[in-house]
Amino acid sequence: MSAQASRRMVTLTINGQTYQADEQATVLQVAQKHGVDIPTLCYHPAVAPYASCRLCVVEATLRGRTRIVVSCAYPVAEGLAVETDTPRLHRIRRTLLELYLAQAPGAQRVRELAAQYGVTETRFAVRDPKEKCILCGLCERVCAELIGRSGISFAYRGVERKVTPPFEEPLKNCLGCGACVFVCPTGAVVEKLGAEVLEIEPWGARVPLATCRVCGEPVGPAAALEEIAEKLQVDTERLLLCARCRRQQHGGELARSSRRDREKLAGRASPAPTLE
Ligand code: SF4
Ligand code: FES
Repeated sequence: MSAQASRRMVTLTINGQTYQADEQATVLQVAQKHGVDIPTLCYHPAVAPYASCRLCVVEATLRGRTRIVVSCAYPVAEGLAVETDTPRLHRIRRTLLELYLAQAPGAQRVRELAAQYGVTETRFAVRDPKEKCILCGLCERVCAELIGRSGISFAYRGVERKVTPPFEEPLKNCLGCGACVFVCPTGAVVEKLGAEVLEIEPWGARVPLATCRVCGEPVGPAAALEEIAEKLQVDTERLLLCARCRRQQHGGELARSSRRDREKLAGRASPAPTLE
């Protein structure tokens, strides 16, 4: 029997509603599946939970004992009772959001979440009013766990802590895949498409763009295309076609094959004339 098939289902409640869930699910996964809103910043379903932002805290009661836990990393259990929206949780989230407003006042997502909880200013010292990074580590985890590059990582401690390429030098081994841009919850990572390079900041990455072998238009980051070609075991040249030229080539091939089909059919329908 496969491991998947042998998994048990458990029964739990979230805000008084009863749900069945796979015993390996987390409270956050079950809540999200059933449309129960729990605020998150550092969670992404594609990578393992890191539980750094703590915003997803809930009250979990099991066997008569209630604890505050982070729902993105807390597994469900038979008989678990979860509350996601109590005054105690609001107090914790408000304090956290005040801290994030000081840490990343430039992040719109942080300001929106804070406003949702009635927090519009912070008691804590703001170091950089433009800062957007909340040090959630999603960019680092995605680069390491999904893309397999580990181009960026945490450096320093305390208030100096940051995510950076090695030695704070411009990132050299970047594929230009843009995964870090996509997952960053606060818009702290941005990409800019130039005529010849893709720039990704704040990593200082400059990834040369490959061009279409027919029309010369940029088709994508050269390093990413090379990696895809290697994984697909095809010649990189085959990927160097822009969407328009790919369509035209595909259209041409279709037209040629349908002409061949028509000629074949015509040949079958009317036998070749014979010489008397
Ligand atoms: S850059 Fe974005 S994804 Fe990376 S740690 Fe900062 S907030 Fe998180
Ligand atoms: S989403 Fe759970 S700790 Fe950040």
